[in-house]
Amino acid sequence: MEIFIDSADVAELRQTSATGLVDGVTTNPSLIAKSGRKMRDAIAEICSIIDGPVSAEAVATDVEGMLAEGRFLAAIASNVVVKLPLTEAGLMACRTLSGEGVPVNVTLCFSAVQALLAAKAGATFISPFIGRLDDAGLDGMELIREIRAVYDNYGFTTRILAASVRTTNHVKDAAIAGADCATIPAKVFQALYKHVLTDQGLEAFLKDWRSTGQSIL
Ligand code: E4P
Repeated sequence: MEIFIDSADVAELRQTSATGLVDGVTTNPSLIAKSGRKMRDAIAEICSIIDGPVSAEAVATDVEGMLAEGRFLAAIASNVVVKLPLTEAGLMACRTLSGEGVPVNVTLCFSAVQALLAAKAGATFISPFIGRLDDAGLDGMELIREIRAVYDNYGFTTRILAASVRTTNHVKDAAIAGADCATIPAKVFQALYKHVLTDQGLEAFLKDWRSTGQSIL
């Protein structure tokens, strides 16, 4: 499963991408607002840090506006993926942009039938929001399983990008459910390394090693 970082914070993106384990980035209007930067500048810098897909979201709500914004965003760098909301206008714009060869990430997906429509509209990525479904007392991971089944039934190549990820368990469960990618906050990425038994085991190994008085080199 590919790992994307859900952030518009370039310091955080430089740090996480230095691991070589980050495959892409997603942003949204809230993350751009939090960065305090102009959309164009933020996306251009992020694309210079990350080779993989970088999602930049249009904010127009009508088809023509989405197309204009989508083409503007796609021109910023060759790895920009235009993010569009799962609305009727969003799917119509998705169909047009995808036909022009612009990759589209359809966002704010909360049902398998929405995901079916996004695939039919030619989306490169579908972003089901796991955490927000869980927050609402529903089962976010069940949605990933449903979309996987629907896409596999019909051979859709739209990639399932598990989004609104809150925990390391979300990452594990999305991988088990067959999500193609997960976009995760930097703090969840850092937590993926951690296990209390790793820390304890390493401490014990190093203590025993010190008692030998040896050095390897
Ligand atoms: C995905 O592309 C979104 O930017 C993101 O995952 C939303 O997460 P949130 O529900 O934590 O805001």
